[in-house]
Amino acid sequence: EVNWLPWILLLGVSDLYGISAEIKFTTPVGRLFTYEVMREKFQNDFETSSKLYTGVLHDDPMVFKCKKQGFPDLPEWLRFIQRHPFDNGFLYGTPMSPGKYFIEIYAINKISYDAARELLVIKVIPEKLLPYQAEFFIQLREVEKVLPSSVQIEIKQDLQKLWNNEALEMINISNALDRGGRVPLPLAGHYEGVYVKVGSKKYFSKCLQRVMSPEYQRECATEAKVKIPGECTFCKIPSNCITWCKTELVRRPASQRFHHHCLEMTCVFIQLYHHQTIHGNTEELRSMASQRGVPAPLSTLPMFNSRTGERASPLQSDSIPLIMAQQEPYSDTLPR
Ligand SMILES: *[C@@H]1O[C@H](CO)[C@@H](O)[C@H](O)[C@H]1NC(C)=O
Repeated sequence: EVNWLPWILLLGVSDLYGISAEIKFTTPVGRLFTYEVMREKFQNDFETSSKLYTGVLHDDPMVFKCKKQGFPDLPEWLRFIQRHPFDNGFLYGTPMSPGKYFIEIYAINKISYDAARELLVIKVIPEKLLPYQAEFFIQLREVEKVLPSSVQIEIKQDLQKLWNNEALEMINISNALDRGGRVPLPLAGHYEGVYVKVGSKKYFSKCLQRVMSPEYQRECATEAKVKIPGECTFCKIPSNCITWCKTELVRRPASQRFHHHCLEMTCVFIQLYHHQTIHGNTEELRSMASQRGVPAPLSTLPMFNSRTGERASPLQSDSIPLIMAQQEPYSDTLPR
């Protein structure tokens, strides 16, 4: 199930950097976005712009620089990796708020030093966050080996079995470096390891619920190598196997969850509870403000006149019209 809708806008505009194409994507908040930066495509751009190598297929080394248009870097949710000048690059990450992002990709040919540019327009649309999420660690992988969609699908298929749930969505893929960890030297047989986070509207399977059990905690705290229980082992390809003891379950707080997940009476209860919590917090802030030995900031008072500082008594507030601006043009009686 692919949940972003890519489409390519054919817009060949010549500029300083050779051919510049604009590519548009729409992707929902809270879901993994990936884009493979293809060397082959830029190779074509270089050949059309220089017209030097007609008739011969070239495979030049190239490096990429990706950044938000008008800024030195990428937006903080978006990361880029290209391991080697003969590899494709990947842009990947999880946007957490809606908006439109203009991402420039510059390619530099390491033989001719030709440069080409591509513009990615990523439109992030609102979407509800998934209430149940689980993060897995795959030890024998590098992030760029997991980002191609074919590999993402393989991994998701194993996790669908472990979760006993078809409706899983990719939320995040990151490597140890993305998480501020230390990474082994590039030695044969040593991998950085990859974290994969998926989410669903459906609750965790029996297999995943074991992660919350005291036995899991105890075993994983004491034993060096804990095997995933037999009936919960689903990896078809050894390099996709998860490290059982590094599994983490996340349940989003009820305030973000009750939309999908409770029956009417329970929802009312949760909403009331939240209302009370917010009310309580406000009270607390007001009393803290009043105890500082300085006049309380006007903004913490129920209603005030910003010019005179005069307060309306809370008892009267029911009878005060919300807008009084007609009588006093420069007064502000709206609660802040
Ligand atoms: C995805 O992973 C990166 C790296 O660990 C982290 O900084 C980011 O907050 C994560 N985003 C989500 C939505 O989990």
